[in-house]
Amino acid sequence: MNKLLKKVLVLTLMIAMVFSIAACGGDESTDDENGGGTEAVTYKAVTEATFPPFDTVDEDGNIIGFDMDLMNAIAEDQGFKVEYVDMEFDSLIPAVENGDADIITAGMNAMDPARQAKVDFSTTYYDSKLVVVVSAENNDINGVDDLTADMKVTAQIGTTGADEAEALASEGKIGEAVILNEYSSCILQVINGDAAACIVDKPVAEAYIKSQDGKVKIVGDEMGAESYGFAVQKGNTGVLEKINTGLQNMIDNGTYDELVAKWFN
Ligand code: ARG
Repeated sequence: MNKLLKKVLVLTLMIAMVFSIAACGGDESTDDENGGGTEAVTYKAVTEATFPPFDTVDEDGNIIGFDMDLMNAIAEDQGFKVEYVDMEFDSLIPAVENGDADIITAGMNAMDPARQAKVDFSTTYYDSKLVVVVSAENNDINGVDDLTADMKVTAQIGTTGADEAEALASEGKIGEAVILNEYSSCILQVINGDAAACIVDKPVAEAYIKSQDGKVKIVGDEMGAESYGFAVQKGNTGVLEKINTGLQNMIDNGTYDELVAKWFN
């Protein structure tokens, strides 16, 4: 009896060992198949998030906006995932150039030869203009021609608005182009009277006026037509093709129009 019990125990133990080894092996191969094969690739997208309604941050610190909603819809359609990182606008192109990031989602004008020399742009997804924004109480400046050599004009670093402000300064038409990191600071300087005007993208100025009614206004004619595109590293046709295909699908299936209605009402 004792001997038989021993044999049964030993046998049970051996069977248990065989099963646990098999189970281990099984686990590993399952991991390999599912982990490597079906899990969606995640691309790192960079933006500058003081630029609502294109790029902003919600109360919990999440990066949100028209750009993110559109890119997320494209990603879902094309089977990839996106994680967003906020940085200064003039760091976006270098980040993609040196491979620190995969995609720029930042309301970035694609119709710019200097940028096109550094990154590849998607099909454009939003047409825009630049405008002059002044304090709502200012009745002296009714357009860019009313800016004078004693005035400061703000714009965000690295943007088309900054190009415009710097051109006005070098032509002597304004006193100084004040180039700041955040668009929000550009507008604040106009509100508190430190600067006479700010040059910024029209839809962003309009959204600001809607949310902060009575503080600033747009004056004069629109300037510098531009068209926003997503950007990838030069030669990254794999990601660019997914973005372009997904974007076209979102236009065709009505998602694009829904997002325009959501963010620009
Ligand atoms: N459209 C302008 C440009 O391309 C301004 C973009 C600013 N975008 C931002 N996320 N801050 O230069």
